[in-house]
Amino acid sequence: MKKFVFLIKLSLDSIRDTKRIIKYFNLINLNGYGIILKFFVIRFFYSIESIRSKQKILLTNKIEKNFFLTEERFDVDKISKEIDNRGYSEILKIQDSFIENFKNHIFQSKNIDVKIEGIEKSKILKSEKEAISDYFLRLKKLKVSRLTGTINLNENSLLKDFLLSDSLVNLAKSYLNTKDFSINASFFISNPLQIPKKEKYKNAQYFHWDNDFKKFFKLYIYLNDVDESNGPHIFIPRTHKKKLPDHKLCRLYSDSDIYSSYEESKKFIGKAGTLFFADSYGIHKGEAPQLNSRLLLNVHFGKGKILYNKDDLYFNEE
Ligand SMILES: [Fe+2]
Repeated sequence: MKKFVFLIKLSLDSIRDTKRIIKYFNLINLNGYGIILKFFVIRFFYSIESIRSKQKILLTNKIEKNFFLTEERFDVDKISKEIDNRGYSEILKIQDSFIENFKNHIFQSKNIDVKIEGIEKSKILKSEKEAISDYFLRLKKLKVSRLTGTINLNENSLLKDFLLSDSLVNLAKSYLNTKDFSINASFFISNPLQIPKKEKYKNAQYFHWDNDFKKFFKLYIYLNDVDESNGPHIFIPRTHKKKLPDHKLCRLYSDSDIYSSYEESKKFIGKAGTLFFADSYGIHKGEAPQLNSRLLLNVHFGKGKILYNKDDLYFNEE
């Protein structure tokens, strides 16, 4: 009986989310009508752990050198296995010299979104001469708790070179066990503001899990220092493989519920340039900043072709 009720709930959630997400991201325009069925299949069947877990990682025996990173070696299989086992990788670090370039590059994006009605987009773009700290202050005054922007991966940039470096491409091939995948790079500015519950919901600041592809992982890069005060990312280990029965629907869950249900939680803090990979099918959230703002670059690598934005990149080596 319990299973039956779960399946009914899952069907209803899947239909509702398929409609909502296709409309929100304009997925038919970007992907054609086939996306409706494709997306429903992901939301329904690939919500089920036993189905999703059938997709195994592919070992590559590749150890790459990546000159964007401070680490000498990028051991593809080691990282792929870490994500597979715990849901997240060890922390790595971007070379300081690239941080400034990545920051400047993302602020050139005009493809931005804020969840506040009636605010003119042109007013919330960073002007060229404005210091980042002044920009964050200005956003706070405008009561912008979170601003997101998409980066055009169809134009050349150092960031694109990094995302398509042998290390990352081979990691995607290994973890997703595929030769074709989609990449989206977005940035998030989160500001310390007292915000209503509803806005926190929209900002993904409650525990949740994502389900946008049959399989995917995300790369998180902190572009400013992140500590307890400005919204560290939190991941509940191993929930990308197994969640408790109460958390098997793709919904939002309270802190007290999650912290009392699972023994461990992994909090990611680190200096600007800190990066890690996570399978965000596991339970996670970005904590709401308390004191300072956070600037995060978030990149998804998803199996197959689903474009969430016109600026996304489809990689295919067939
Ligand atoms: Fe998420």
